Amino acid sequence: MPLQFLLKRRSVVASQLQEPGPDKTQIKELIRAAIRVPDHKALTPWRFLVFTGDARAQFGEASADIYEKAHKGEYLPRHLVAERTRFLRAPVVIGVISSPVESEKVPASEQLLSAGASCQNILHAASALGFSGQWITEWIAYDPQIASLLRLEESESVAGFIYIGTAVAAPKERLRVEPNELMSYWKS
Ligand SMILES: Cc1cc2nc3c(=O)[nH]c(=O)nc-3n(C[C@H](O)[C@H](O)[C@H](O)COP(=O)(O)O)c2cc1C
Repeated sequence: MPLQFLLKRRSVVASQLQEPGPDKTQIKELIRAAIRVPDHKALTPWRFLVFTGDARAQFGEASADIYEKAHKGEYLPRHLVAERTRFLRAPVVIGVISSPVESEKVPASEQLLSAGASCQNILHAASALGFSGQWITEWIAYDPQIASLLRLEESESVAGFIYIGTAVAAPKERLRVEPNELMSYWKS
């Protein structure tokens, strides 16, 4: 991967992602990249839920129901619309599920980090295919009722939802901290 690609990397916010998104073959390539991450003891501590087409709206209807009941009328109509259309912001959404395995050698935190690497690899692979994306969590990543809607196991959690599509416009640069402000050479 050329260094310039990494040094210029930017997310594109989900609301700025439109059709076309990756097709089925390209989605498989994204998942191939997602599983090509550092994985201590090769535990395969992740899996992937892909949302395309009508499934995005169906998820929105179900999550809006959960939202409505949880907030007991204490919300504005536009909040419900946002819930219903959450996954419709991009042509494809990939849920990266951290799926830790019992291990004496590999702590759960390492397995979660590996799922994070999968999220980042999906973003890089999407860029390599000419798409843009954003890694988003929002409340749906942490809600127990959404976890059961997604049929997650007790030990599983959402590492991220990766929204992928074609950027409406190229993202602007944003300020980054200079490396020297964050690094030091350790000395005894
Ligand atoms: C674990 C994780 C969760 C995130 N969740 C959200 C989110 O819920 N909403 C959001 O706007 N950005 C979220 N972000 C930040 C975006 O992915 C992205 O980094 C941000 O839009 C800045 O763009 P950049 O990646 O080009 O710096 C999250 C990032 C990470 C690593």
